[in-house]
Amino acid sequence: MQVAETIAEIRACVARARKAGKKVGFVPTMGALHAGHASLIDAATARCDYVVVSVFVNPTQFGRGEDFNRYPRPFEKDVAICEEHGADAIFAPSAAEMYPRENLSWVTVEKLSEPLCGRFRSGHFRGVATVCTKLFNIVCPDVAFFGQKDAQQAVVIRRMVADLNMPLEIVICPTVREPDGLAMSSRNQYLSPGERKDAAVVYRSLSRGRELIGAGERNADVIRARMQATLQEVASVSIEYIGIVDAETLEELDRVRGRVLVAVAVRLGPTRLIDNILVDAPPG
Ligand code: PAJ
Repeated sequence: MQVAETIAEIRACVARARKAGKKVGFVPTMGALHAGHASLIDAATARCDYVVVSVFVNPTQFGRGEDFNRYPRPFEKDVAICEEHGADAIFAPSAAEMYPRENLSWVTVEKLSEPLCGRFRSGHFRGVATVCTKLFNIVCPDVAFFGQKDAQQAVVIRRMVADLNMPLEIVICPTVREPDGLAMSSRNQYLSPGERKDAAVVYRSLSRGRELIGAGERNADVIRARMQATLQEVASVSIEYIGIVDAETLEELDRVRGRVLVAVAVRLGPTRLIDNILVDAPPG
């Protein structure tokens, strides 16, 4: 497995693979890899012949006062996980390699970047869309793999690729969870043992939402209120949002219909956690 730190190096690796007729898969990450990331690498190796994983903590998607500086960077462990899961190359550039000058060119996906996390993380999706565009232009993959865990990111990236005619396929993979339902996240390691236990309430609230929809509840306010009550069972949790939105447009729903994204963001102490599930509302 190659570890490339420069754009020239990774381009040369991918060019060699492409010349050999290989289909190129790409898994963009910020490192601190866990089983969720590993599942994306597995999906990529299953579908592609040459798999690149990027490890880059992208400064432009972090707001002031967010955790950019303390974001975990266990690079040796990340290399081992990539190797174990059969990746062919890691692209791990420095910030100076990715942003060598003041960045004046940005990719904004309107509307879809605004609700949910967009309301609480100003500029976040502009940073994500811009870095993914740069990474796609550097790696030139046939297929890129993203996780459903970051549902809004997945919707934003899919739309960006469609609107801008980017020549790659986007595959969204299911969320990998801990046995108690907590979605795996690099940020889970910020949680104290007590907070870690409490964090399971996030998935319990999503499951409550799914049950209600399955049982025929159509009033989104009722579903939100029940989910809120579940989250409030744990005193350490403060709620950022509970979204019952259309899975494609991310528009808040009054009545649930079609494919619904049930999404939650909470804070547990200083740690921000997000999670979601997709639910198909039964017709009628
Ligand atoms: P990061 O948070 O490292 O996540 C990288 C990819 O792993 C994303 O597509 C994310 O949705 C997926 N992922 C994270 N946890 C997961 C889980 N429990 N199950 C399945 N997939 C999971 O998302 C980013 O980095 C960045 O915004 C990035 C796209 C790399 C741009 O900087």
